[in-house]
Amino acid sequence: MKCILAPSILSADFSKISEEIKILEKGGADMIHLDVMDGHFVPNITFGPKFVNDVNKITELPLDVHLMIKNPELYIKAFAESGADWISVHYEACDHLNKIIVQIKEYGCSAGVALNPATSINVLDEILGYADYVLLMSVNPGFGGQKFIPESLDKARRLRSLLDRVNPSAMIEMDGGIGPDNINEIKNSGVDVFVTGNSVFSSPDPSATLRRLKQAIS
Ligand code: DX5
Ligand code: ZN
Repeated sequence: MKCILAPSILSADFSKISEEIKILEKGGADMIHLDVMDGHFVPNITFGPKFVNDVNKITELPLDVHLMIKNPELYIKAFAESGADWISVHYEACDHLNKIIVQIKEYGCSAGVALNPATSINVLDEILGYADYVLLMSVNPGFGGQKFIPESLDKARRLRSLLDRVNPSAMIEMDGGIGPDNINEIKNSGVDVFVTGNSVFSSPDPSATLRRLKQAIS
């Protein structure tokens, strides 16, 4: 499976978001990761469908919307209509996960289930056949710039072998604490989609850092 580099704009300067996105495009980003936080599911608040819609106007790249919100079923339509191409919802935030995953697909988007670091992949048994991808959080969600949780590597390996049996085309996305120092071992654990925020935007040359990351997964 071809690997995908999906930089997160969480650590970007929103006052110059067009320029920040150009920098990501120049660095070879395959997709833009957008972190939606509601201040309830996670202790931080970011942005909603209006912002996603505005980002959609300034890039041709697919938009990967990661919903860290409670009651995500209320907002799938709004995000899909704002230009989201991929939408993930947290297992921990959904009362009716199957219904929501089906709903995301009905809007023509790829549907993902996201898991917090402390949530076992075993809870996915009944939904794996429906999901297009699983997003494994490798930090506790809420903030950029946190340290990668090393047990995430083994979790990805176990998930890959499970997916190979039940849904081989489903992808694994990993999110949090990824940078040039650990991207190789993350790739070797079976991850297909790499979210990188702070390691890109805190570097002196974000485009060059992205290119380096892209080369590592190519
Ligand atoms: C954290 C978000 C991540 C975050 C990753 O809750 O889901 O997408 O932006 O950022 P870094 O790469 O800074 O850990
Ligand atoms: Zn994210």
